[in-house]
Amino acid sequence: MSEREPIGVIGTGYVGLVTAAGFAELGSDVYCVDIDADKIERLKQGEIPIYEPGLEELIAKNRERLHFSTELSDALERARLLFVAVGTPPTYSGDADLSAVHAVVNAMPVSDHHALVMKSTVPAGTGTSIKRLFTATGKDQFRYVSCPEFLKEGSAVKDFLHPDRVVIGDDGDWAGDAVAELYSSLDAPQVRTDINSAEMVKLASNAFLATKISFINEIANVCEETGADVVEVAKGMGLDDRIGPKFLQAGLGFGGSCFPKDVTALKQLAGNSGYHFQLLNSVIEVNELQKRRVMGKLQKHLGTLVGRRIGLLGLAFKPNTDDMREATSLVLSARLQAAGATVIAHDPIAEDEARKLITGIEFAPDALEVARDADAVVLVTEWDQFRALDFEQVAAVMAGTLIIDGRNALDPAAVRAAGLTYEGVGRSH
Ligand code: UGA
Repeated sequence: MSEREPIGVIGTGYVGLVTAAGFAELGSDVYCVDIDADKIERLKQGEIPIYEPGLEELIAKNRERLHFSTELSDALERARLLFVAVGTPPTYSGDADLSAVHAVVNAMPVSDHHALVMKSTVPAGTGTSIKRLFTATGKDQFRYVSCPEFLKEGSAVKDFLHPDRVVIGDDGDWAGDAVAELYSSLDAPQVRTDINSAEMVKLASNAFLATKISFINEIANVCEETGADVVEVAKGMGLDDRIGPKFLQAGLGFGGSCFPKDVTALKQLAGNSGYHFQLLNSVIEVNELQKRRVMGKLQKHLGTLVGRRIGLLGLAFKPNTDDMREATSLVLSARLQAAGATVIAHDPIAEDEARKLITGIEFAPDALEVARDADAVVLVTEWDQFRALDFEQVAAVMAGTLIIDGRNALDPAAVRAAGLTYEGVGRSH
């Protein structure tokens, strides 16, 4: 047994596994629980169900401290702090579906020495309603802490070990102190606050970052009309400390499991409490339009898309992940096929996931095969290997000449030097 406090982690999805591996790395014994027996069995065999750089190695390194089980009692017997990392997907109405969270809450026993530590992203006010539930069921000694997660997919391990901040919302009891102690070895400021505020920090942060992206995408669209270059504009803006350079990359819009879900959840939360959050409607709308704008660019250069062969480089919602949730490629491939085009695509990691979600397109083994005989190639996800492409080779195999750089990730000069036509997002150079 290590000297550090053992913990339980309920839910071995993306956040749960990274949290478990991270705390094991910091020295805690971690008791991971999931209702999915098959997944637990695979984890016991050392098989990692998601693709996340560095995670498999971190889990292998800390194998001795990581324990996997389908029995909640295994965690309850050994740990006071039970980190909850179950899914909170959006419902049809856009509200977060809290059924998995409630199942965990209902499964808790009467106890005066346990605490739930909420890692799942939940609407502000969830902690208060869970505490009410505890009280109503005679579990009022069960403590509750909100400890939102700010990990980014693709760099989650690094983000866990080097966070910008740790936010802990609690009722000023032992549980908040215990969570603060767990994180104390990390070199990061801690924000200790109340539960409602901690929950709101998470939603507001994601909504703000999404707003930044929709804002720069609209600037890019205006740049296209006025002859300015959004990359130059973002550089000039980002040097202002108050703005900062990050999340000012114009492109084909944001995707993933978090931004679309959380922006909608915050909008709904505001609406449900009688406040119309106008700005967020626009953030969502701009993002949806941005995913589709590339269609107009293709038509501008190619005329009709009927019978055209269009190559897509990248399918995942961003590089270094196989996550296809809310990926721009989903909308784009459907739109292209509806317009009569043949779509051929390659993604270094996400092809298996993509095959489950996208029908009617061809998958190519590499980027050059995507380009072969294509009338146009669209960079959808900025994987490093696409940035490093030799465009002389690309030009040699294409039928047409159009390269649409949907992430402003390519060197326009190199593309043009190969005799190709370069079109980015909001770029004049
Ligand atoms: C996001 C947040 O960045 C994390 O802090 C948060 O913990 C996480 O959601 C969550 O709530 O779980 P993630 O969805 O993994 O993380 O990915 P990001 O790197 O933030 O990218 C989101 C989307 O925005 C991607 O589609 C990306 O292509 C797009 N993006 C990002 C842009 O279009 N422009 C940018 O400048 C930055």
